[in-house]
Amino acid sequence: MSIRPVLPTDHAALLKLWQRTPGICIRPEDAYAPFCRYLSRNPGLSLLVEDQGQLAACLLAGHDGRRGYLQHLVVDAPWRGRGLARQLLDQVLARLAEQGVNKAHVFVLREGPDALAFWQGQPGWAEREDIQVFSTRSV
Ligand SMILES: CC(C)(COP(=O)(O)OP(=O)(O)OC[C@H]1O[C@@H](n2cnc3c(N)ncnc32)[C@H](O)[C@@H]1OP(=O)(O)O)[C@@H](O)C(=O)NCCC(=O)NCCS
Repeated sequence: MSIRPVLPTDHAALLKLWQRTPGICIRPEDAYAPFCRYLSRNPGLSLLVEDQGQLAACLLAGHDGRRGYLQHLVVDAPWRGRGLARQLLDQVLARLAEQGVNKAHVFVLREGPDALAFWQGQPGWAEREDIQVFSTRSV
């Protein structure tokens, strides 16, 4: 099992993983060109786990110079419950901290089957009750 930064050439395998994972929404920004733009804006921050050449897990991460933002945390079903999500989180947060970013946010869909329970149980993370998120409407 090894953890390494996500590369543009990982796009096809990642997209397949996201598409088959309940609770993960595919957006126009998950297409190849915006995916590559995101990686080059945030070098070395998005990570994946490989097990004997097979994609097992991933986490996309970026920052705006002030806060980190995490997206698409997925551990493929056969590899769940082995601490991979925790390892990815720890490594991504350490990499953000190396760049002076000491706080991160994740937006979690309420209807995701695993997501809310997972995040509610993570030490060092707190659900925000003082913030309501507003977003521009999709075009
Ligand atoms: C949520 C998900 C990433 C967890 O991955 P995982 O590798 O199985 O998680 P880990 O083994 O690292 O678990 C870390 C801790 O979280 C807990 N945990 C894991 N999944 C959980 C769940 N669904 N509900 C509650 N707690 C959970 C584990 O018990 C463990 O706690 P412990 O350290 O006290 O034992 C995985 O189930 C998944 O990919 N789900 C589908 C996609 C998804 O919903 N992603 C989140 C998008 S925001």
